[in-house]
Amino acid sequence: MKRKTFLRSTAAVASVAAVVALSACGGGDGTDAGDGGGGGGDTISIGFSQVGAESGWRAANTKSIQDTLTEENGFKLSFSDAQQKQENQIQAIRSYIAQGQDVIAFSPVVETGWDAVLQEAQAAGIPVILTDRAVDTEDDSLYESFIGSDFVLEGERAGNWVAENFDGESMKLVELQGTTGSAPAIDRKEGFAAAIDGTDIELIDSQTGDFTRAGGKQVMEGFLNSHNDIDIVFAHNDDMGLGAIEAIEAAGLTPGEDVKIVTIDAVKDGMQALADGKINYIVECNPMLGEDLAEIAKKVVAGEEVEKRIVVEDAEFDQQQAAEALPDRLY
Ligand code: AHR
Repeated sequence: MKRKTFLRSTAAVASVAAVVALSACGGGDGTDAGDGGGGGGDTISIGFSQVGAESGWRAANTKSIQDTLTEENGFKLSFSDAQQKQENQIQAIRSYIAQGQDVIAFSPVVETGWDAVLQEAQAAGIPVILTDRAVDTEDDSLYESFIGSDFVLEGERAGNWVAENFDGESMKLVELQGTTGSAPAIDRKEGFAAAIDGTDIELIDSQTGDFTRAGGKQVMEGFLNSHNDIDIVFAHNDDMGLGAIEAIEAAGLTPGEDVKIVTIDAVKDGMQALADGKINYIVECNPMLGEDLAEIAKKVVAGEEVEKRIVVEDAEFDQQQAAEALPDRLY
């Protein structure tokens, strides 16, 4: 587990803590296994709405949550997959509210449009914890804590690597963006752009591949058809970078040589491609958020103070470092 930094501590609002404590005691009678609501005794019932199953990162993140929020660890987990649709997540959150879950946690597909359902959870006295991705709201009392990486920094680190290695060479770059409107797509784009600003690296095209391998391949095929001078690909995640590799090879070019590739995530498949020389650099995004979520959920239910923002630390890897890290890589 990566070490984390507590950036700022929240005013763990006394009234919210009191409501949470009530919810923890009165959330259910412990016999409602059928609807997943209200754990009894010391068991915390928690409804988790996941983004989907779009990437290797997401699979590792789901595993971390399901492996940690177990009955042995004091949880009764209700898990749902939103298939990358906000309406599915809103529906799932509403059903967790109706079930009287002790805690609701979710990784928001997109940043905006959450206030109404979060207000419903607050009115029901159910605390909400965000994992992985942030929401864009002016009322941060609508959630207890946000646990996840600094996506702007990830984009900046990827951009710094490009600037340090290719500034002065008039390189042309294309960008494979993550899901439109999602925090990682918005923030990684922003961080990367800031890092290459003032260099002679030119961003010639940028489109969404929706964080999937198929999306990355399809968009890269389009880029290769429209431009015959692509030097570098910045993919917002490994899966899209892996899709781009397929498109580059199908076009008779050598990924990692003719076209340099930098990605974010550092999941096993991405790290293998990096060690094989098909990707040139990867900035990690740590998916192992289950333990932090369990710890914060327990504190919230106990009425304890929790940090509003928990930033998970990420590493970065070149080709040699990937080869060294692979044998012990957990995800
Ligand atoms: O929110 C984290 C991002 O979502 C990961 O980088 C990506 O692989 C996933 O789909």
